[in-house]
Amino acid sequence: MNETRKHAWIGKPLDRVDGSAKVTGRAMYAEDYRPSKKAAIGYIVEAPIGPGKITLLDTGAALVAEGVLFVLTHENSPKQEPFGSHPDDGRFTQSHAVLESDHVRHFGAPIALVVAETFEQARHAAGMVRIEIEPAEGIYAAENHRDRAKTPDDLDGGDDSDSDKGDFQKSFGEAPVRLDIEYHTPDQHAAAMEPHATTAEWDGEKLTVHMSIQILGDARQGFANTLGIAKEDVRIVSPFIGGGFGSKLGIHNEAVLAALAAKKSGRPVRVAQTRRNLFANGPHRSRHWQQIRLGATREGRLQAVAHETLGAMAKDYPFAEPVVSPTRGSYQTDSMMTRQRVVEADIPKVDSMRAPGEAIGTLTIETAIDEMAQKCGIDPVEFRLLNAPGRDPASGKPFSNRRMEDCLRIGAEKFGWTGRQSSPGAEREGNWLIGRGVAAAIRPNKLKKAAAEISLAGDGRFTARLDMTDIGTGTYTILTQIAAETLGVDPERVTVLLGDSDFPETCGSGGSFGAGSTGSALLNACRQLKSDLLAAATAIDPAWCGLNSADVVFDGDKMRAGPRAIGIGGLVTEGGQDGVTAKGSIEPGDDHEKYKQYSYGALFSEVGVDADTGEIRLRRLSGVFAAGRILNAKTARSQLMGGMIFGASAALLEESLMDVRYGSFMNRDLGEYHIPVNRDVPRLEVTMLDDHDALSNPMGSKGIGELGICGAGPAIANAIHDATGFRARHFPIHLDDLLPYLP
Ligand code: MOS
Repeated sequence: MNETRKHAWIGKPLDRVDGSAKVTGRAMYAEDYRPSKKAAIGYIVEAPIGPGKITLLDTGAALVAEGVLFVLTHENSPKQEPFGSHPDDGRFTQSHAVLESDHVRHFGAPIALVVAETFEQARHAAGMVRIEIEPAEGIYAAENHRDRAKTPDDLDGGDDSDSDKGDFQKSFGEAPVRLDIEYHTPDQHAAAMEPHATTAEWDGEKLTVHMSIQILGDARQGFANTLGIAKEDVRIVSPFIGGGFGSKLGIHNEAVLAALAAKKSGRPVRVAQTRRNLFANGPHRSRHWQQIRLGATREGRLQAVAHETLGAMAKDYPFAEPVVSPTRGSYQTDSMMTRQRVVEADIPKVDSMRAPGEAIGTLTIETAIDEMAQKCGIDPVEFRLLNAPGRDPASGKPFSNRRMEDCLRIGAEKFGWTGRQSSPGAEREGNWLIGRGVAAAIRPNKLKKAAAEISLAGDGRFTARLDMTDIGTGTYTILTQIAAETLGVDPERVTVLLGDSDFPETCGSGGSFGAGSTGSALLNACRQLKSDLLAAATAIDPAWCGLNSADVVFDGDKMRAGPRAIGIGGLVTEGGQDGVTAKGSIEPGDDHEKYKQYSYGALFSEVGVDADTGEIRLRRLSGVFAAGRILNAKTARSQLMGGMIFGASAALLEESLMDVRYGSFMNRDLGEYHIPVNRDVPRLEVTMLDDHDALSNPMGSKGIGELGICGAGPAIANAIHDATGFRARHFPIHLDDLLPYLP
């Protein structure tokens, strides 16, 4: 297949096809959209306390303020289905009602929306709304209400909350080397660069929303189930998204408020969450108590592994992130017991944040493994290799492939691991105590149902359409590459259109399944198009009969196969004036049931800790990853780097601080919610192993977006131990934690 070699676009480090639109400001983000009829602007009035009952809501002064059109409250809001109803397909599609009644669900929940001509007018008038709330007793902190712990129906992704293998208690009791550690991981907010924003407009019973959302199909159903309308009557447009990280998987308060206000006013309404809003009106990752118990032989073979967690779940919003997932898939052991429990709390929505589960599960299990290796007197890389499983440890299923050990070996080599001295405080450079650490990374690989279509127009250009989103990951670019390679043409000849619910429905962006699933659907659509066009050519000229659609190539204004050539113009006319369109789809088959599929990584870090102040400086962070076939070497590398920074941030910086007396988050801006800046991040080393998982999808690719975050945090925590002797129990690690360990 000559054209395949000439047009081997998949994997190439193609520049982002949407790059110039983004840097020149032509890319239309949700807040940029201007409907033909000028939109009114809504500003959220948040409850100062919750839960409780509204006893006074005086909007009189706000209503007469300049520019104010109306104030939406529970007393005049259009009808909605009760929050939490329609739970069948989960949290994204359930009702997300707001302003339902005088009941305040939690601190910061919307209790009014001031709608005015301008943002400034709406914000000004919002300050004039008088509110009194009679507080009710709230549950805020799971750790203070262990008696209320319950077992979630399942974990996000569908796995059971509990797993058992062998007799953990017995094996642990008999193990000669034991560890029993409690960890605390913090609340976190994704705080994407672009806060949530929605413009809603109604045409009779039909709702159109321009918004920033990761999964359009679920969001359509979510609007339908909230507003009591048909999914078909909702259109969502979301062509560009300024970061999601899970916070835009489903619809949130600004979206519902915009739809309600637009319905009420008969005019488009835009509501954008402010940075402060999103700490109560967007979702967050719950803090978790985690307990890990490990038992091993003196030779360092794991015999017993237990991982138990407790986190919060927002009332009527079922979600539990699979914190124990990496523990279930990483190490050989005779016995294993995992448990996840949740306490329902009167707090904002708890939901996915990048690598839900693994992000905070690898943070703990991979530091515990480091501690166990040390206890056994075995190098932590060697310890991991020694305990490598042949099959998935918890389920006993075979792996689709297993590259963890390759990542560890190659990573150790590249990092220069063998030169590591293993006693804390042993290495110093001036005032810097130097330490190095390693951790493994593992992340489940999923394939989801998706559809796509591709058209060929008379001018020889191809256009792909699917309701997939590009949340900054590079989806436009990789889909262009996949289509161009499958069609055997230059990428310039392909236009990919995304983010419109009028296009074929996909799984959207989430769970690192977007690229593989939607790429496979598009690949199948392109194959179908070639086959359809061959049939059309055969209908025109029977001499095409018997040729193979895999041999179809597009050469200038001609389509060729073997010895035959036909003008595209004439061929496409046969399909009508819009050209010829073919559809393709994908859904997971047995290979995702019979095999455990993961992507893999090994992270190595070097830190310096100031011997006087405890200041931690990340000096090196190096990752080796195996994530199936790489679709674009440049965007994949960027995804991995972004993940590694996210992971470093989890170890050292990020935490949302809740006042557990009121369930309120206190550090609601990026001045106080700490994320890394450039000076915090050293040169990152990223290596992607040549990999191809035939059981994953037709391309052999695997999810990569959430892999980088896994393992980066514990590699840093382990390096800090190597530098100082300090073992982290609470994350993020604070400088004052280190003071007692400084020389
Ligand atoms: Mo991801 S946390 O499923 O966007």
